[in-house]
Amino acid sequence: MRFTLILSVALGVSASALPRFASEQDLGLHARKNGGKGKNSTKVAANNAAQTSLKLDPRVISKSFEQDGSANATKGQVASLTSSNNFINFCLTVNKPLTNGQQIKGGSCNTAPMGVIAPSTNMPSSKFVSPENLSAVKANTSFEIKMAVKHLETGHFTNAESTYFAAPQQLNGKGDIIGHTHFVIEQLNSITSKTPSNPSKFAFFKGVNTAADAQGNVAVNVSGGLPPGVYKLSSINTSANHAPVLVAVAQHGHLDDQVYFFVTDDGKRPAKIV
Ligand SMILES: *[C@@H]1O[C@H](CO)[C@@H](O)[C@H](O)[C@H]1NC(C)=O
Ligand SMILES: *[C@@H]1O[C@H](CO)[C@@H](O)[C@H](O)[C@H]1NC(C)=O
Ligand SMILES: *[C@@H]1O[C@H](CO)[C@@H](O)[C@H](O)[C@H]1NC(C)=O
Ligand SMILES: *[C@@H]1O[C@H](CO)[C@@H](O)[C@H](O)[C@H]1NC(C)=O
Ligand SMILES: *[C@@H]1O[C@H](CO)[C@@H](O)[C@H](O)[C@H]1NC(C)=O
Ligand SMILES: *[C@@H]1O[C@H](CO)[C@@H](O)[C@H](O)[C@H]1NC(C)=O
Repeated sequence: MRFTLILSVALGVSASALPRFASEQDLGLHARKNGGKGKNSTKVAANNAAQTSLKLDPRVISKSFEQDGSANATKGQVASLTSSNNFINFCLTVNKPLTNGQQIKGGSCNTAPMGVIAPSTNMPSSKFVSPENLSAVKANTSFEIKMAVKHLETGHFTNAESTYFAAPQQLNGKGDIIGHTHFVIEQLNSITSKTPSNPSKFAFFKGVNTAADAQGNVAVNVSGGLPPGVYKLSSINTSANHAPVLVAVAQHGHLDDQVYFFVTDDGKRPAKIV
């Protein structure tokens, strides 16, 4: 099944121009996957009932959440919040609207569990193939962004308007996160800029809705290219419901990639870059 690509090239446009992703059919696709054909149907029925029950099943209570970590804390650690009911009513403690599947600009409180955490053997990683780090592309000319991806089953995205962060992360049979990636290009003042960038401003943003090709690469075209300047290109790997990928251990290599590149009138790298 081919997904419609919705290109969102936004020159100096704010994050409010976030791309729309999925259609209802795509949601259906996920529902079917979860429904699980060929699985123990008694178990599937019981699990489905558990997804509508308003009672917390004692089998899923994480007992460890009752302690705040201070029993064996190292210096400088702060106490964790605690709960004996999996924080199911946590959002009552903050004065925020429920996220409720929406991208609420003023912030919100989300109630969906994080879900299935990828094993440390299956942590996603990526590397841009093009543009290459510190290379240059010609101004105002279409160019392709290509990225190699490992351990992310790309191409799965739910409706970002109504199911944002609305369901737990899931893994495929191989233990890889089912999700998608995004490419974002931000303009910098210079290659040696030390100013934290403004995440609301980007030169290009694209949810990559397609699955990786046989070589494990995902790609999109930046049609029309970009005006001359210095840019940072980053990936954002997410689960199908758009949450950043969650993995088994805290210490890990970066799960995304970033490269810096130049856009110049002649398509050549500046002779002197710093
Ligand atoms: C299916 O799951 C139920 C509930 O967990 C269990 O009692 C039953 O033995 C399972 N049947 C098979 C064929 O695995
Ligand atoms: C830390 O303390 C908690 C609560 O007392 C205990 O369950 C846990 O095993 C301890 N962990 C370590 C690494 O000592
Ligand atoms: C996401 O995962 C893919 C596949 O592992 C990887 O190529 C990419 O760098 C990761 N990061 C982002 C931000 O997409
Ligand atoms: C890109 O180049 C910069 C400057 O040399 C370097 O700091 C950075 O680590 C490089 N990034 C990658 C992904 O190669
Ligand atoms: C980008 O454009 C080129 C030239 O039209 C085309 O060959 C290539 O397949 C396109 N790449 C993608 C990812 O659409
Ligand atoms: C590219 O477009 C910008 C304005 O968007 C213009 O200033 C610049 O001269 C153009 N460069 C080329 C090589 O066309």
